[in-house]
Amino acid sequence: MSEAIALDLESEIEALKKELNAVLLAHYYQESEIQDVADFVGDSLQLSQQAAKTDADVIVFAGVHFMAETAKILNPEKQVLLPDLAAGCSLADNCPADKFAEFIAQHPGHTVISYINCSAAVKAISDIICTSSNAVKIVQQLPPDEKIIFAPDQHLGRWVMKQTGRPLVLWPGSCIVHEVFSAKKITQLKARHPEAKVIAHPECEESVLALADFIGSTSALLKFTAQSEASEFIVATEPGIIHQMEKQHPEKTYIPAPPESGCACNQCPFMRLNTMEKLYLCMKNRQPEIKLPEDLRVRALKPIQRMLAMS
Ligand code: 13P
Ligand code: SF4
Repeated sequence: MSEAIALDLESEIEALKKELNAVLLAHYYQESEIQDVADFVGDSLQLSQQAAKTDADVIVFAGVHFMAETAKILNPEKQVLLPDLAAGCSLADNCPADKFAEFIAQHPGHTVISYINCSAAVKAISDIICTSSNAVKIVQQLPPDEKIIFAPDQHLGRWVMKQTGRPLVLWPGSCIVHEVFSAKKITQLKARHPEAKVIAHPECEESVLALADFIGSTSALLKFTAQSEASEFIVATEPGIIHQMEKQHPEKTYIPAPPESGCACNQCPFMRLNTMEKLYLCMKNRQPEIKLPEDLRVRALKPIQRMLAMS
């Protein structure tokens, strides 16, 4: 896209924000231009907190479907727009509610904690929602003898088990993006950059997390790079976050962790479906819009409210 068109789209989006009384929320994995035009850029927890407290009439969500759906669950009276309805998530897509209900039935007496990366139907049969920012904190607040199912990300679940010392029954889901990082290639990279700190999202496989100097949600990784005395980082998460790292500390070096093959598969194909053009068009046409049956929304709301209260 030429700079002239990009600048034009930016001012069109700004004008539409005013016209619609809209708030534009963007996740750290969005392309840089979208992050720069957003009113708020954050991780899943921060974005749901912003959605819970906004007084805008329209929420435009530059993220993936489960994020916009969470905003709708919290704001039934507001219009929630998502630039591309096909922006899914491998975790949400591989945990269908009917199969998950069977899984829960196989483990009676368990409290069900579901990562926010799941559908409204899965949320509706969960007891508490969590994000990578608060998963440890939420598990720690439950009585020590409480039996827990954790879904749908097995790697995050295993990391939470390690942090809390609590056994969790894990749904075997994973993120297609965080699974591509190669422990072998990170080790080779680290040998060439011995001063670099390896930072990783807990959705990465255990072999990658074992190499990390710091593990955390996207916002925790950003905070770490800002506060650390180190000046070089190997970043094992979706490289969209590097835009904010560079904005905060342009003098530091951020090296995207290498995937197993030479592909660009460390970029989330779902997050990257959103573009400035689609963002502009969804605001102009006021669609695609997130819609939810009211009974499902009400059931999905409860575990989200428990999360917000426990965060
Ligand atoms: P965060 O909540 O850490 O931003 O994670 C969202 C996500 O989808 C990670 O892949
Ligand atoms: Fe889902 Fe992974 Fe994309 Fe996050 S990076 S939205 S977990 S597919």
